[in-house]
Amino acid sequence: MHSTSLTLLAIESSCDDTAAAVLRDGRVVASIVASQRIHEGFGGVVPELASRAHQRLIVPTVEAALDEASVGKHDLDAVAVTYGPGLAGSLLVGLSFAKALALGLDIPLIGVNHLEGHIYSVFIDEPYPTFPFLCLTVSGGHTLLTLVKEGFVHEELGRTRDDAAGEAFDKVAKILGLGYPGGPEIDRLAANGDPNFRVFPSPRLPNKDHEKNYAFSFSGIKTNVLYFLRDLHDNERKGMLDEHLPDIAASFQKAVVDALVGAIRDAVEETGVKSVAIVGGVSANSGLRASAQLAAEQDGFELYVPALKHSVDNAAMIAVTGAFKLAAGQTSELSLTAEPALTL
Ligand code: KG4
Ligand code: ZN
Repeated sequence: MHSTSLTLLAIESSCDDTAAAVLRDGRVVASIVASQRIHEGFGGVVPELASRAHQRLIVPTVEAALDEASVGKHDLDAVAVTYGPGLAGSLLVGLSFAKALALGLDIPLIGVNHLEGHIYSVFIDEPYPTFPFLCLTVSGGHTLLTLVKEGFVHEELGRTRDDAAGEAFDKVAKILGLGYPGGPEIDRLAANGDPNFRVFPSPRLPNKDHEKNYAFSFSGIKTNVLYFLRDLHDNERKGMLDEHLPDIAASFQKAVVDALVGAIRDAVEETGVKSVAIVGGVSANSGLRASAQLAAEQDGFELYVPALKHSVDNAAMIAVTGAFKLAAGQTSELSLTAEPALTL
């Protein structure tokens, strides 16, 4: 699937993970992710802290990846880097580093769109999907359903109008007094909760007449959790959280998962495409994985979800996407700039 006899370094620094990976002869041979724990106490990523941490972590992270791959920088044939979307200051650290390396070593620079990186994360480990495939990208910053027709040719079926799915997990976790990032915490609690404890509003916008709607809105469900707790008396609220935290987590997760899997099922029916990928941080969710797998068995489609470490942000996905782009002759100029608001 990937081009061979090539040693490529990839760098990802779009948000709060400093990551580097090495791809050699078509395989990812090293992948290092230095997660920034400094944001935990803030309930979200603090952009200025993130860029400073990237500056501190970029050299040791790249060195660790090269060491793990037993590769020297003079063995590199190309360098791939995320240039957007993401936090401006964070993107700039990885991009400047990659440009300097490309210039110093006189090797091609390949700018990678972070969202394409997530989509192509299904090509890190076999089995790979064949084109065309449907891809649901669900992360902290994005929620979109795409028909991937062939390499780098996509048709968007729908996206969120406001918050991303991961953002909803993180914000609801904060309302429930849980830590950041909230997705894994809610996932863990939901495993022991009753998903039918409470019905939260669906984050999927309704189908109109005979037209399928693949648009989402996650701000309503977040507000609904907030108001549900706010409208209780103080002692009731305490009792509710003490006794029913796993049930609230499971009910919230069910509403999100049902909306996402419902959209996938409709898209499979409408397009007739029988390969489906779910990528991005929220694809690590065990409820989403289980429900999508069940739908795949019932509706007869193949499901592709990356390994957990490749669901959340990593540089292996940037390496694989970079190799595809290089093979397609899509290299970048050294004047490439960071594009914080880049979309697919
Ligand atoms: O893809 P990612 O690492 O970064 C972005 O590109 O945004 O996604 C991070 C998001 C966070 O919102 C986090 O809460 C969510 O993925 N997440 C999860 C789980 N693990 C990570 N959400 C639900 N369940 C999980 N197990
Ligand atoms: Zn991401």
